[in-house]
Amino acid sequence: MANERGYNFATWTNFIEESQIRTLLKYKVKYYFGGGKPGIMPTDIFADIMIDISNRYKKDSKLALDDFNYGPTGGQPWFRKTLAKRLSDVRKIPINGEDQWDHVTITNGSQQALYAILDTLIDPGDVIITPSPAYLGFLVPAVKLGARVLTVDTDNDGIIPEQVERAVHLSKIKFGKVPDLLYVVPDSDNPKGTTLPMSRRLALFDICENHNILLLEDSAYAEIQFENNLKAIKTLDKDNNRVAYLGTSSKEAAVLRVGYSVLPENVREQVLKDKGYLDLCTATLVQRILDEYYSKYIDQALNVSVPKYKERYEAMATAMDEFFPPGARTDPTGGFFIWWKSEDPNFNSSEFMERVAIPSDILYVPGGPFYPIVGHRLTEDGNDIIASVPEDNTMRLGFSYATSDVIAEGIEKLGKLMTKEIG
Ligand SMILES: Cc1ncc(COP(=O)(O)O)c(C=O)c1O
Repeated sequence: MANERGYNFATWTNFIEESQIRTLLKYKVKYYFGGGKPGIMPTDIFADIMIDISNRYKKDSKLALDDFNYGPTGGQPWFRKTLAKRLSDVRKIPINGEDQWDHVTITNGSQQALYAILDTLIDPGDVIITPSPAYLGFLVPAVKLGARVLTVDTDNDGIIPEQVERAVHLSKIKFGKVPDLLYVVPDSDNPKGTTLPMSRRLALFDICENHNILLLEDSAYAEIQFENNLKAIKTLDKDNNRVAYLGTSSKEAAVLRVGYSVLPENVREQVLKDKGYLDLCTATLVQRILDEYYSKYIDQALNVSVPKYKERYEAMATAMDEFFPPGARTDPTGGFFIWWKSEDPNFNSSEFMERVAIPSDILYVPGGPFYPIVGHRLTEDGNDIIASVPEDNTMRLGFSYATSDVIAEGIEKLGKLMTKEIG
């Protein structure tokens, strides 16, 4: 369609809006419960790493020339080796750190891996199953590429496997297609903060095995767990054939735009082909910095940050329980977010944010964008597929960035404003 300057923009530009989270970045507020920004970072460690690397570059100009240059599309072998070792030692992913390092692919953030996987698997009309609600950074590219997004109910333990089984069955009848992908964030999901218990991980893996569906396991928050880490679904995938596992430095290290994934071989080949045209390669300098971090400092850094995130979570949960109007919140055991749903179906968290919260110096993310703009959902009884409708009386509250004091103060303020509004 031509705009006033006469350019013929692609169709998607008319129905895809700017990411709600990106839009919200323009607001500078005192009480920031918006995007998933890490607020506890080992900045001293990163400063030391950079001094150390600078000194090496001064002594070794060949190393500097290489590190400031183009590198392999899938990432530098030395960095992939470091990550392969950690994935195998700590997360028990079945790869051999020494000689299967090439199973690890480096991308510009896990966001790029999500996009490239969709880009290489999805033709218009293909079906993808996601939880309802789901990470908008996955939903929107899926819709943009023409996927039929089929959402499935979640409870306090995440997506419900029996409902997924029903969704696969009904997808065959209604769309004439077995879904290509099941997308989950098993550990402290974005946006709900829920964690899939082991029994559900096993059940979802089995469903994907039985119906030949690629299981996309987005582990963005797997290292930010307050009590204990559950086994990744990828640990069940002994032949590296069923699960695309994504990790990211963004939450557990720093936002240097580095994601790392372990993908079935044929998926990896296509993703690398795609990345070769998307950005050619990921900057070597950031891989150098993170290689130091992951090989020497990560445990020490997480031992500091995770308990602090837990403290912030507790500050938020306590204040919500005291000051929020009737509704229900989730009870995360890790990650960055709490999800809240008002008892009042007419409460519109997006409208309230613009009119009341932002002028009061408070920012959260309204729940609406975590439902597909165009999509389908399995009905609660599991017997039908109908159009997906956003639940606008919900919100995602991030506890990662503001300090505990600011969280307690801001949540009290927000709770009182909402109570005044809803009654
Ligand atoms: C669930 C999930 N996946 C992926 C991403 C993208 O992360 P990045 O591109 O920074 O690695 C995010 C970011 O917030 C996320 O919450």
